[in-house]
Amino acid sequence: MKNSYLMHGGDYNPEQWLDMPEVLETDIERFREAKINTVTVGVFSWAKLEPREGEYQFEWLEKIIDRLYENGISVILATPSGARPHWLSDKYPEVLRVNAIRQRNLFGGRHNHCLSSPVYREKVRKINTELVKRFGSHPAVKMWHISNELGGECHCELCQESFRGWLKRKYQTIDALNRSWWTTFWSHTYDSFDQVESPSPLGEMSVTGLKLDWRRFISDQTIDYMEDEIKAIRDAGSDLPVTTNLMYHFYEIDYFRLAEKIDIASWDNYPSWHKREEWETARDTAFWHDVIRSLKRKPFFLMESCPGATNWKDVSKLKRPGMLTATSLQSIAHGSDGAMYFQMRKGRGAAEKLHGAVIDHYDGNDTRTFRDVCEAGEMLEALSEVAGTATKSEAAVIFDWDNRWALDGSEGPRNKNLHYQECVEKSYRALRRQGLNVDVIDQKCSLAPYRFVAAPMQYLFHEGFAEKVREFVEKGGTFVLTYWSGVVDENDLCFLGGTPHGLMGVFGLRSEEIDSLYDEEENLLCRTEGTPDGMKDSYVCRYLCQLVKPAAAKTLMTYGRDFYAGTPALLENDFGEGKAYYVCADAEQAFYDDFYERLTKEAGILPILPTEIPDGVEVTSRSGENADYIFFQNFNRKDVKVQLPEGEVIFGDKEGNMKPLGNIVVKVSR
Ligand code: GLA
Ligand code: ZN
Repeated sequence: MKNSYLMHGGDYNPEQWLDMPEVLETDIERFREAKINTVTVGVFSWAKLEPREGEYQFEWLEKIIDRLYENGISVILATPSGARPHWLSDKYPEVLRVNAIRQRNLFGGRHNHCLSSPVYREKVRKINTELVKRFGSHPAVKMWHISNELGGECHCELCQESFRGWLKRKYQTIDALNRSWWTTFWSHTYDSFDQVESPSPLGEMSVTGLKLDWRRFISDQTIDYMEDEIKAIRDAGSDLPVTTNLMYHFYEIDYFRLAEKIDIASWDNYPSWHKREEWETARDTAFWHDVIRSLKRKPFFLMESCPGATNWKDVSKLKRPGMLTATSLQSIAHGSDGAMYFQMRKGRGAAEKLHGAVIDHYDGNDTRTFRDVCEAGEMLEALSEVAGTATKSEAAVIFDWDNRWALDGSEGPRNKNLHYQECVEKSYRALRRQGLNVDVIDQKCSLAPYRFVAAPMQYLFHEGFAEKVREFVEKGGTFVLTYWSGVVDENDLCFLGGTPHGLMGVFGLRSEEIDSLYDEEENLLCRTEGTPDGMKDSYVCRYLCQLVKPAAAKTLMTYGRDFYAGTPALLENDFGEGKAYYVCADAEQAFYDDFYERLTKEAGILPILPTEIPDGVEVTSRSGENADYIFFQNFNRKDVKVQLPEGEVIFGDKEGNMKPLGNIVVKVSR
């Protein structure tokens, strides 16, 4: 599906107002004024859709969908499983989650049902089927929104059984499981699959293979549950696209695997703007936009963002004038085909009554937030031709869920914080700083589309990963690997025979030891004869310092301090037609900025624009069939002037003058 317009709208909860229908009267008028073209309905509506088991009441929803349709507004219809009605858990207590210390939850909250429970799955299947029957062919309905922000875990007996089944399918025999988990350690050998229990502070926390497999199981089980929901929709005859709303820096589900099962990726973005300098928050948000786009390597969309201030943060700050347009445009610049909100109308009571919304309790169209939403709507309409265009990147950074889990589940070399994510983001930022679009991929993704790949802290190597890297470099790619890589296999078993496993030849070195620094300690990467021009004499490094023994590799920088002063800290190796670089320590951002500037230039990777970009200005591009769209966003607190490329300015100042939070979009025909 290629969108012909950018979506603008968000979560709409008319079910909260069924006994005060007059309040909703003005909604459509407001939506039209703000150029709202899409709303998401049905999220958390289960109790109103099926007030008693098997008794469906859809009339209220039909009226609303009809009315939206008559007014040219499309609908994303949610399955209601994000929260369940009281009757369901009263009658079937098995649907309530059990925590790691084996206590069952009471009714309450949301997202707290057991995803293994056959009863839960069956009840969801039934209501999804009914929804498809009633609304699947409604011309307003354009997409399905599966549940809401899937996540969490359950340790009930049903989940234990599912986990054991998952393990049996994976290992076949208990001996194979024992070998993979290294259970002879502390006499933890299992005699049968029935003895396996999920990790618990009351029980097993020392078998890291168990912890890793439990993480994978939770992720797989959630995806499997989601697939069941999708299957119900397909079986009932709807082939509309499906999505589910993903979350910022989310940990529990391997989003790359989940994305294989949905048609379009979407996510919920709630940055804490104005806490740090805007450019810092923008840089952080950009990373996650790029993760979500890379999941399917095609346009995603922003399902939720707050039109005003949230209410669930420690401090819920108002968005400063101009921020809503800037933050909405940022998603578009990174590949989103829409900028949507939570929520369209503020509820009167319960936890989210004070959460920002397009329409306030006051109801008027003269609130600052409403005017901001109108402004964003104008912009999205002006940029509608951008919808469906692609993001082209020749550079990628690897960020892998299994690796994340394995790093955290392991003990040593630092249990406080390995700073994995920061390490990934340093590479990401350095590449963005060179003016490039950047994909964020995992170890299982193809490396073929790229010419430059950075793989920070890939402690766990998936089967086949080392071979893929070897082939990539052999064929002329530039690959950067860092300290603490290639240490364990997929089962968290240490590789024998030296690390980085399978790549010692490609990088021309062997890792020997890794030093963990106390938080207040620092070491240095220092210039040598081999240090490339344009790099500083030294860079600070912290937390982790890998000591390596070079074979063919050339030393580019050495350590400055401690007993390993003078030994290699940065190395380069020619391999096949490509180059393999190994960064030994957790170096400061400036190191990556300077180093990647040189590497990308050498690799011949052209930035989006040849001209100098002022600090704090984000430049991103999307490419259509006949034109490229270049986005400039000024996240500085001062005015800047940018040099615009030849082309048509389709949004913003034609001379390149940018106020703080200013935006310019230039269309460059090809
Ligand atoms: C999440 C949820 C929404 C709402 C918002 C509030 O993203 O999906 O239902 O609770 O947070 O910010
Ligand atoms: Zn369970």
